[in-house]
Amino acid sequence: MKEIFYNVFTKNRLLYTLNQCPGQNVYGEKLVNEGKKEYRTWDPYRSKLAATMFKGLSYFNLKPDSSVLYLGASTGTTVSHISDITSGMVYAVEFSERMMRNLLTLSGRRKNIMPLLLDARFPEKYSWIESVDMVYVDIADPQETEIAIRNAQLFLKGNGLLFIAVKSQSIDVTKDPSVIYKEESEKLVNSDFKILQTIDLEPYEKHHAMLVCSFVKNRKMTSP
Ligand SMILES: C[S@@+](CC[C@H](N)C(=O)[O-])C[C@H]1O[C@@H](n2cnc3c(N)ncnc32)[C@H](O)[C@@H]1O
Repeated sequence: MKEIFYNVFTKNRLLYTLNQCPGQNVYGEKLVNEGKKEYRTWDPYRSKLAATMFKGLSYFNLKPDSSVLYLGASTGTTVSHISDITSGMVYAVEFSERMMRNLLTLSGRRKNIMPLLLDARFPEKYSWIESVDMVYVDIADPQETEIAIRNAQLFLKGNGLLFIAVKSQSIDVTKDPSVIYKEESEKLVNSDFKILQTIDLEPYEKHHAMLVCSFVKNRKMTSP
């Protein structure tokens, strides 16, 4: 296994995280043993973060105790891999009760996932969370970028990273996806973010790109 980012591994063109719950998988992914360790395969067709890594991500800042605010946690596919990577808290916001049921089961097994049955459009409802090293947004909402900006301004540490999985068809089906990625990037730049990478997620996810951003300069946190 070759470590490409902290606790993220690759072997024979597959991606893995070190399983923090040995013997258990989350979404049917394969478990692989090597040495005395167990790894979970990380499927780029099931997780946009894995797809982003396959498509050439250069910036990834998770370390042993990094904390993450994850908006649009769904049933926890990607959240579970992030919880393998860091032992810091993963605040997993999801507004669908149906998705939340699986997320609750997952968080019962993994102590660093805090499921929050809340709406990411109203971050003041979770204003008590700590400031985080990464804000990850995957909510397929026409206002996704605005929601991401607001959450990052409130919770992201000055040197943290913001990941936004933009689904062009959720924003405007009539426009070319590349135009939408550019327009969403402009909104970020106008709010003092720097676009570090724009990664098209084809063929893993159609009409999706990951925007990887940081603040232009270190900044103070604002209150909600
Ligand atoms: C594309 S899925 C996310 C998949 C997930 N990120 C993964 O990789 O495992 C989008 C999720 O965002 C949730 N969602 C959409 N808008 C939301 C909002 N405003 N607040 C919280 N969750 C939201 C949906 O219910 C859905 O479960």
